[in-house]
Amino acid sequence: MMNKDVSTGNNPSLPVLKIGKHTPRFPVVQGGMGIRVSAHRLAGAVAKAGGVGTIASVALGLASKHYTGKNYFEANKMALTDELTWARQAAPDGILAVNNMVAITDYEDMVRTSAESGANVIICGAGLPMQLPEFTKDFPDVALVPIVSSVKAARLIVRKWEKAYGRIPDAFVMEAPSTAGGHLGAKPEEVYSPEFTLEAVVPELVEYIASELKVDIPVIAAGGIWSREDMLAAFALGAKGVQMGTRFVCTFECDADDAFKQMYLDATEKDVELIKSPVGLPGRAIHNKFLEDVAIAPPAKHKCVANCLKHCGFKVGKQGFCIATALSAAHKGDIDHGLVFSGSNAPLCTKIVSVEDIFADLFTG
Ligand SMILES: Cc1cc2nc3c(=O)[nH]c(=O)nc-3n(C[C@H](O)[C@H](O)[C@H](O)COP(=O)(O)O)c2cc1C
Repeated sequence: MMNKDVSTGNNPSLPVLKIGKHTPRFPVVQGGMGIRVSAHRLAGAVAKAGGVGTIASVALGLASKHYTGKNYFEANKMALTDELTWARQAAPDGILAVNNMVAITDYEDMVRTSAESGANVIICGAGLPMQLPEFTKDFPDVALVPIVSSVKAARLIVRKWEKAYGRIPDAFVMEAPSTAGGHLGAKPEEVYSPEFTLEAVVPELVEYIASELKVDIPVIAAGGIWSREDMLAAFALGAKGVQMGTRFVCTFECDADDAFKQMYLDATEKDVELIKSPVGLPGRAIHNKFLEDVAIAPPAKHKCVANCLKHCGFKVGKQGFCIATALSAAHKGDIDHGLVFSGSNAPLCTKIVSVEDIFADLFTG
């Protein structure tokens, strides 16, 4: 239930999260979750509740009215515009972000469409967004936020952006591979390395921004954040905001099918595992029949949907599976044939709640 403190965001001990020109009432970003786990319903509800609501742009066209079976890239653009329009209707004054994966073939188109269709913030992961400012140069109010797992990655982006575009990011999301869901920005052997934890990297990144860049841009901590205590611990490390994915899946508003959410409700610790994604990165997902089947052989029915990834192990070497097909099946509820991405906190999901309930739990008391 909403109470007065929550509705006003009246909590002086919490940091103010300023991302470029955009300041949400609460220092919470709902992480982009593809395919269609965070589309307009979830992002609109989070933006309305006072956080940053994020639409994941990847492969949005597939389950849209625009897809004819032959126009994957065109349908993606039209579907992203639809999703942003609908989320904006839900939260006219809210802050909406789009998460764009650098690794996808239509990354540039999706970034341009995000800016043209009214996103306030563009958040990019699954690769380093070296050319991002070029794609959004006509939209100076759109804040640009790379996702990194190390200061080394942040430094590479800053060097390129300063030199080529005379600007720096408006914030960094620092995502810990040891706990986050979806694709992880680390080599398999680095996923659980103490070097890549929030405790190690967040203070180092904050220090780099303050002493070397000498600017005031926020670090947003992501991965394994569930409770108010987790959030406060991230703020104690110097983060000005948190990005949360897994906790927002078991909401009424989450755009995925109920069967997808049920996987979270049923998951135990041993069910959450690391997988090798055809993208070439490790990922975190819930164990299911699909993962057992692909461990034996690539699914006979999978064929490349649309050349959706810049580098794809399945397209090139028939290794693994078609990730677009697998993620698409999962969000529609065909769990036995789908890949159910999740963070390590999925076992904490015990019931479906509303987005407002989550904000009340985080910001009351
Ligand atoms: C189902 C699911 C799908 C995700 N898809 C994406 C994605 O498309 N792009 C991305 O950058 N991150 C993606 N993520 C990562 C989240 O945005 C978020 O940063 C991360 O899960 C945070 O950790 P948490 O889940 O422990 O809160 C995904 C996470 C989940 C659980």
